[in-house]
Amino acid sequence: MKILDRFSLRGRIALVTAGAGPQFGSSLSEGLAEAGATVITASRSLETNLEFARKMRDSGWDAHGLQVDICDAGSIQKLREEILRQFGRLDILVNSALARDGHAGGLADQTAEQCLRSAAGDFAGLFEMCNAFLPDMVERRKGCVINISSIYGVVSNDPGLYAGTTMKQPPTYNFVKAGMVNFTRYLACYYGKMGIRANCISPGGYFNNQPQPFLERYCERVPVGRMLENDDIKGAVVFLASDASEYVNGHNLMVDGGWTCL
Ligand SMILES: NC(=O)c1ccc[n+]([C@@H]2O[C@H](COP(=O)([O-])OP(=O)(O)OC[C@H]3O[C@@H](n4cnc5c(N)ncnc54)[C@H](O)[C@@H]3O)[C@@H](O)[C@H]2O)c1
Repeated sequence: MKILDRFSLRGRIALVTAGAGPQFGSSLSEGLAEAGATVITASRSLETNLEFARKMRDSGWDAHGLQVDICDAGSIQKLREEILRQFGRLDILVNSALARDGHAGGLADQTAEQCLRSAAGDFAGLFEMCNAFLPDMVERRKGCVINISSIYGVVSNDPGLYAGTTMKQPPTYNFVKAGMVNFTRYLACYYGKMGIRANCISPGGYFNNQPQPFLERYCERVPVGRMLENDDIKGAVVFLASDASEYVNGHNLMVDGGWTCL
């Protein structure tokens, strides 16, 4: 098969949690759909996902909206049943949803209770998603998982970036995202021989109208000189979801403009 054909996702069924979200979610979904996949997005608001899917279909892509609350194991099971009923299987699972419960304030502002709630939402959600969808992939001996971590799953925030702004970096975010990177390696090792690949993408900061002092410092520090934009993430997710990366397993792909090289 020619190399560009190996990037094709034609005939694959992909689920992106929070895939209708205005930042990374929609970029991930668009990338997969543009490469030929049938894309299902799911988050708590069914309306948001149905509306996003409608817009995607108007642009010529095959997209569908469903509902899931990653903090609720029952809701995850319902999503699995609905996907199997409507599509027969799932080939690509992209875990991008982030409950961010307890992700507010710095260390001194957090209570152990908030940390537990956050871990229960974000780590338990990731765990439950994999637990729900991997057994069917194992039965077919083919599937792939892509987890969306962050530069802050690999390095710390630079506190100097936030000076003069009200932005605060909750430590629970780093805790959850770092755990996600190593959980991905666990999946890669445990399920590799069962035909499943698991990889992470760790993006840098997305432009989201952050305060000017932060933007200036961020862009000054990052080697490519700008924040991440919509199209930057598409190539990474298509590569990891496709046969072009058939021998890539357990990797954490930094899409950060070189942020973590410094
Ligand atoms: N924005 C950035 O700069 C950045 C940088 C690196 C990594 N990331 C990662 O990318 C992913 C998407 O982040 P984002 O900034 O685009 O979105 P976000 O943080 O603004 O929103 C999170 C998404 O998760 C969904 N969500 C929240 N709670 C949920 C629940 N209980 N069940 C189901 N869905 C739920 C929301 O609807 C939303 O679409 C996250 O995992 C985030 O950590 C973001």
